[in-house]
Amino acid sequence: MAVRSPILNVMVGAAEKASRTLKRDFGEVENLQVSRKGTNDFVTAADTRTEKTLQYELAKARPAFGFIMEESGVVEGEDKNRTWIIDPIDGTTNFIHGIPHFAISIALMEYGELVAGLVYNPVFDEMFLAEKGQGATCNNRRLRVSSRIELSESVLATGIPHYGRGDHPSFLTQLTAAMSQTAGVRRFGSAALDLAYVAAGRFDGFWETGLKSWDIAAGILLVKEAGGFITEIDGKGDCLNGGSVLASNPRLHKPLSNLLTGKKTERLRAR
Ligand code: IPD
Ligand code: CA
Repeated sequence: MAVRSPILNVMVGAAEKASRTLKRDFGEVENLQVSRKGTNDFVTAADTRTEKTLQYELAKARPAFGFIMEESGVVEGEDKNRTWIIDPIDGTTNFIHGIPHFAISIALMEYGELVAGLVYNPVFDEMFLAEKGQGATCNNRRLRVSSRIELSESVLATGIPHYGRGDHPSFLTQLTAAMSQTAGVRRFGSAALDLAYVAAGRFDGFWETGLKSWDIAAGILLVKEAGGFITEIDGKGDCLNGGSVLASNPRLHKPLSNLLTGKKTERLRAR
């Protein structure tokens, strides 16, 4: 991606604008931690404010496009074939706790296909971008998924179900399998960044269930454009709306799917 396309410029402009206030809000969270009162309300307001700025900036540039947003839901556009999919703060729990690992995520869906994606961590100033057929970058550096082929050398990321969310026993079964065969499992708390890190080759794989389209839409394109595979955990299907996600480099994808679904494999190595 030598020259950034007009659509990515629009997305970057919107994310940069929204992140100015978001970074200020993140700074405030530390003060709120001291009193503890009102942190959640403050973060909800920051979430909504960020989303409104993104919506305003994107609509200013492309007035006819529709929206699917975490906070405000669906807004139909005049153009029924083009929709922005937005998560204003992916990693809200980190944000609430003053942990600088969260991101703005924006994707563009055109005729049912993801064509552009942005994941931006404003604290580290890492801008992950992908455009269909044009590859993926982080701060203008081209991304490529990892080339590891041994599960025993691979580091995976996941999302751990928590109070009131997810199927705890089946996650524990998956974790037990992953622990026994890999070099380690990480839980960083932002699915959008987890996928961006797979695209960047930092993680060799990522799996999670119960995700929403706004958590992963941009990340899906990042992984694909960086040469990775991304499906549901059983290795089939389009993971955007199913909520079950498995992303990795092409060589590890099948062995990981087998591992996480409990299928017996002759060898648990990628070859
Ligand atoms: C969450 C994050 C987290 C994942 C959760 C998501 P949010 O999104 O992506 O990593 O484990 O399933 O809901 O709530 O921070 O926008
Ligand atoms: Ca999210």
